[in-house]
Amino acid sequence: MKFFIDTANIDQIKEAASLGVLDGVTTNPTLISREEGEPRAIYRAICEIVDGPVSAEVIALDAPGMVKEARELAAIHSNIVIKIPMTKEGLKAVKQLTAEGIKTNVTLVFSPIQALLAARAGATFVSPFVGRLDDIAAPGMELIGQIKQIFDNYMIETEIIVASIRHPMHVVEAAMYGADIATIPFAVIEKMIKHPLTDIGIERFLADWEKVQKR
Ligand code: E4P
Repeated sequence: MKFFIDTANIDQIKEAASLGVLDGVTTNPTLISREEGEPRAIYRAICEIVDGPVSAEVIALDAPGMVKEARELAAIHSNIVIKIPMTKEGLKAVKQLTAEGIKTNVTLVFSPIQALLAARAGATFVSPFVGRLDDIAAPGMELIGQIKQIFDNYMIETEIIVASIRHPMHVVEAAMYGADIATIPFAVIEKMIKHPLTDIGIERFLADWEKVQKR
């Protein structure tokens, strides 16, 4: 499973990239709103750090508007992938953009049939939101299993990005279901690295090494 980071924060992206495990970046209008600067400049800066897909979301709700925005965003850098909301207009836009060779990430996916529709329209990626389903007491991870099964049944090449991840267990479950990608907030990546036994182990080794120095 590949790791994307779910942020538009340049410092966090640089730090995650330095770990050698970063395959891409997802942003959304909320994440962009938390950062200073013009959105296009932010996307450009991200693309200069990460050599992989960088999702930038359209704001228009009608297909022609989405396609126009998508073309402008795609012109920023070859790494840009256009995030399109899972609506009827969104599917029309995905069809058109796919025909133009522009990669898409269909976002706000909450059901397996939405994922199948997005894939059939030509989406490069689909983003099912597990955390937001958990938030309303619906089993978010079951959706990943369903989409994975359907895509495997029909040898669909659209990649599944597990989105709206809230904690490391979501990442474990995403990998166990065979999702292609997990897009993860920086704070969750930090939690994934840590284990109390690792810290205790380091402390113990250092303490024992001190004894060796006193020989
Ligand atoms: C990523 O593509 C999504 O926009 C993001 O994971 C949503 O996360 P949230 O539900 O925590 O806002």
